[in-house]
Amino acid sequence: MEKGKFITLEGGEGSGKSTQAQAISHFLKEKNIPSLITREPGGSPGAELIRNLLVNGDVKRWDAITEALLLNAARRDHLISVIWPELNNGTWVICDRFADSTIAYQGFGHGMSFDTLEALYTLIAGSFEPDLTFVFDIDVRQGLALARARQDSADRYERMEIAFHERLREGYHMLTRQHPARYVKIDASLPRVNVTQAVLSELCQRLKI
Ligand code: TMP
Repeated sequence: MEKGKFITLEGGEGSGKSTQAQAISHFLKEKNIPSLITREPGGSPGAELIRNLLVNGDVKRWDAITEALLLNAARRDHLISVIWPELNNGTWVICDRFADSTIAYQGFGHGMSFDTLEALYTLIAGSFEPDLTFVFDIDVRQGLALARARQDSADRYERMEIAFHERLREGYHMLTRQHPARYVKIDASLPRVNVTQAVLSELCQRLKI
């Protein structure tokens, strides 16, 4: 059986990733391609427990290294119990955030060493990586306003300073420039239908659907 493809959705706060994950799943269903939407941090029962520790509570609750360890522990559980078995079954896995979020938030945002982050990732995932990564780009203040309008209490990251969010946005830009084969930047400030059109067009072109 052919393995499924692994598609990740990345971006700052309020960039509309979750809506676009639904649109991709819908589109794949029309093409009779089995798919699953999942998310990080979280996505498996064990990883969801760790998620609660990360997204709630005081902004300074964890330092960057502790955060990176918790995120990678959650990611390992998610890979082993959901992502890898599903891909092996031929399911396409659409993941709302994955390891690039750690590079953006803990690396560019909190200033953690990229070598350390890469070593942690290799420990938990080896050479595994997404087939395609969408980076949803939106002005930081506009994105934060949209995220706050959701009135979600899991807002520990949204409460971090604007400069933190600007750094991680720049980080995503840099990643996209450095690895154009895997990353596609999408202008998330456009009306939702136009964003979906851009996503589906890139999806078809790049993954040859
Ligand atoms: P979400 O709001 O997209 O569900 O993500 C929860 C928060 O976790 C979000 O503010 C970004 C943060 N995060 C990291 O800081 N590093 C990571 O590796 C991941 C996956 C998420």
